[in-house]
Parts: sequence; C-alpha cells; structure tokens
Amino acid sequence: MKISVKVPATTANMGPGFDCLGMALPIYNTITLEETVLPGTGIEINIMADDDSIDEMSLEHIPMDENSIVYKAVKLLYNSIGQTPSELKININSQIPVARGLGSSAAVIVGGLLAANKLLGEPADETALLSIATEVEGHPDNVTPAIIGGLCLSSQEEDGSIVYSKLNWNDDWQITVCIPDYELATDISRSVLPEEVPMKDAIFNAKRMGMFVQAVNNKDKNLLKLALNDKLHQPYRMKLVPGFAEVKENLKHEDSVIGVVLSGAGPTILVISEKTNLERIKGIIKETFENLDVNVQILTLPVEQNGAQIISQED
Ligand code: HSE
Repeated sequence: MKISVKVPATTANMGPGFDCLGMALPIYNTITLEETVLPGTGIEINIMADDDSIDEMSLEHIPMDENSIVYKAVKLLYNSIGQTPSELKININSQIPVARGLGSSAAVIVGGLLAANKLLGEPADETALLSIATEVEGHPDNVTPAIIGGLCLSSQEEDGSIVYSKLNWNDDWQITVCIPDYELATDISRSVLPEEVPMKDAIFNAKRMGMFVQAVNNKDKNLLKLALNDKLHQPYRMKLVPGFAEVKENLKHEDSVIGVVLSGAGPTILVISEKTNLERIKGIIKETFENLDVNVQILTLPVEQNGAQIISQED
C-alpha cells in the first residue's frame, strides 16, 4: 500500500504565544509512505525538493535513517499498537523551506504519522496523533495547526495530552512572511533562551496572550497591536536574526502595520498588517534586507484552514 499526505507549513508563537500559538499557511510538503514487499530492505527515506528550498546545507542536518524525525514518529505509532515498522519507503517532497521557522519538521512528522495511521487501518484518533507528534517535535504549536489547520492555541498537559482551541483569524489582517535565505536551526535558536525569566516578563506575556485571544475574537486591531509583543523569546533571539530589529524599526511609523514578529524560532519574520499600503510595506521590507545584503522571499499568504490531508492511496 502507498499513501500520500499533504501537510501545510505553520508559523508558531505569533509574538506572545511562545510554544502555544500556531497558524497553518499554504505552502506544503507531501509525504508518501510505501510498504515495500522485499524483506530486509529496511527503512528508506528520500527527500526531494520542487525548487531550491532545500540546498545541500539543509540536507546535511536531515537524518535519512532511523534517526529521522519522520521515522521516529512512525515508529511511535507502530509501537503504540504493539508493532514495529520494518520495510518502509518514505518519500518527502518538500516545498516548505527547511530551518526557516515555517514548521518543516512538524510537517514531515505529521505527514509520516497520518500516512502510517492510514496504512495501519487508523488505530490512532486525533488526540493520539497530536500527542505522538508533540512527543517527537517537543512542543505542540506547529504540529497542532499542521494537523487541524487554521490558527490554534494548544497546550501539552502533564499527562502528555494536547488541548487545543481554534481561533478565527480576521481575513482582513494580512500575513506577510519574509523568508531570508539563511538557516537557523531550532535547537540553536532555543539554546539562547534562559532557563528562567523574571516574573515581570512572565506577567507581560500572560497579559499579551489574553489580549491576543480577545483581539482575534473581537477583530480588534488596536488590541492586537498591543498583543503582538513578547519578552519570553524574541529579545533573546534578536541577535540570531539579522533583519528582525531593522524591519521592526523601519515599519514602526506605518499606520497599517499591526505587528512584526518572529515566525517560530526564526529566521522568517511575519509582518501582520491591514490591506492598505501592502505594496509600500513590502517595499520597505525589501529595501531593509537589501541594505543588510540578505536575500529574502516576501510572500503575503492567507491562512490555510485545512490541516494535513490524505491526497492519494494505492493498494
Ligand atoms: N515554539 C517553538 C520555538 C517553535 O519558538 O522554539 C519552533 O519549532
């Protein structure tokens, strides 16, 4: 049997929601899982890119063997029903840029899991899939919208279960993703974070998270503007992301800009704005990166409301 699953990219954190907010975006990876009939062939993992989003440097830090995250996820699912995967071919067709803060690892984990689940006769329900995906990824903010779609607030509870809630993003608020051509591995971007933060910073973020949910529910632009701030991760990561401080600074007087935040662990930057003056905003972003000698891809994308989907199945 051969199953293909299409999984969206995701942007996590969205400013105040470190490790708990995430949104699906319309860039996709397709993960195909095939049971191979020849005994002894073991696990084969292939990665293909439609464009140059995966360069040789990216490939170096993607394990293609049993250390791969996609294999780890598939193995956990098999183990949960008392089985072990033996002969499997996993093909990853990647359009999501790797190590850019757009959820490429969550997408391969989720794609592998959903395909394996179908292959096994769907033993895992949504709750189980969310838990396994989070166990491999480490936090639920990317994997939840990759499975569910849309904008999700999610939490991993102490028993490992995932609780999530979907929020309705106002489609008038534009998401412009600025994807620089340099990579930043999530583990490096997490290594600069402190073990503990001052109480006042924790309170700052707790307030912003409350404001975020209220602003989204009430479509309140002024409240969202206040909400899109953070003291838990962005200040520490700033030095790893050339362009972030500069884009923020250069857009600070633009009335239609609601906020500038890091996408996940970076280095992609999200600019959230109203529809007016979008071309002018993009021009300022482009010029800012040009001045830093950093190539950047600038895309304004709608929210992807669908999560991962099985797109083909052959017996
Ligand atoms: N919440 C995660 C982080 C997302 O910021 O490190 C990246 O995987």
